[in-house]
Amino acid sequence: MEQLLEQINAYKTEIESLTPADAAALETYRIRFLGAKGIVKALFGEMKQVPNESKKSFGAVLNDFKQLAEGKYEEWKTGLAGQPAEAAPAVDFTLPGATDPMGSRHPISLVRNEIVSIFRRLGFAVAEGPEIEDDFHNFTALNLPEHHPARDMQDTFYLHRNPDWLLRTHTSNVQVREMEKGKLPIRVICPGRVYRNETISARAHCFFHQVEGLYIDEQVSFADLKQTLYFFVQELFGQDVKIRFRPSYFPFTEPSAEMDISCLLCHGKGCNVCKHTGWVEILGCGMVHPHVLENCGIDPNKYTGYAFGMGIERITMLKYQINDLRLFSENDVRFLEQFSASF
Ligand code: PHE
Repeated sequence: MEQLLEQINAYKTEIESLTPADAAALETYRIRFLGAKGIVKALFGEMKQVPNESKKSFGAVLNDFKQLAEGKYEEWKTGLAGQPAEAAPAVDFTLPGATDPMGSRHPISLVRNEIVSIFRRLGFAVAEGPEIEDDFHNFTALNLPEHHPARDMQDTFYLHRNPDWLLRTHTSNVQVREMEKGKLPIRVICPGRVYRNETISARAHCFFHQVEGLYIDEQVSFADLKQTLYFFVQELFGQDVKIRFRPSYFPFTEPSAEMDISCLLCHGKGCNVCKHTGWVEILGCGMVHPHVLENCGIDPNKYTGYAFGMGIERITMLKYQINDLRLFSENDVRFLEQFSASF
């Protein structure tokens, strides 16, 4: 009995001097004192040996001790709860990683790159030029002298500072600049942004993108043009696509044509996209007008050439079945992130 009381006092001093530093130390304490095979349980087991007359007082001592042991445990547990458990690693490696959101290429860029890559395979080089252009390179050299009625075909933005300057209405200005360099033969495509003073709607915008092409050499014929464009649309839209040419007018080409492709949606049966004709216009083209060659210092008796021009927006709308041109410039991520980049 005396011995047991001494033992209990020793445990009390031990408990009072303790401060478990972390969850692991607290657990060791719990197992030692409060566990199923712990000290408190063991001491209660000693009750049997205590003489009956002392059972009451010993019981009271034992209960005090138990309360101390349990009370301290609860106190430490709440104290440690605020702190991170030291045993746990600072980083939880099982959590999914934080990733940076991936951007996606703009559909216009995707289609432009695809068009460029097809023509590159045919030996065309990429040429670029200024978006702010002078009247000569955008109009006059292209057989559109001042007051030519065809200038009205393209509503032009002029610069206040100098009325001779304008925002190019097509990338044909780059073709003029290539011809002026005087190095023949020429085989270039000119992708770029162009501007026209049009009311913004689902079908028109004040700026859009074009790819124009130019091939000048000895004996270039309309047959070369047809074959090149046929190859191009088959690469872009698939082997089954059909083409047709309709006579047209451009001041810088003679003869001129517009090229249609068979409707990709209804395969010629007739739908809203092709306005029930089975055909969709995608580009203008023709043989470079002898005046244009002359204006750019090329001898039209020796050289001939073809040119073509297409709107990238139109082709992108056909390819991805987009029905409103304005979506391309609204920067709505929900729209833009739908296009996966293969280029
Ligand atoms: N430059 C013309 C346009 O912007 C397109 C075109 C280019 C037509 C070359 C014929 C030949 O509309």
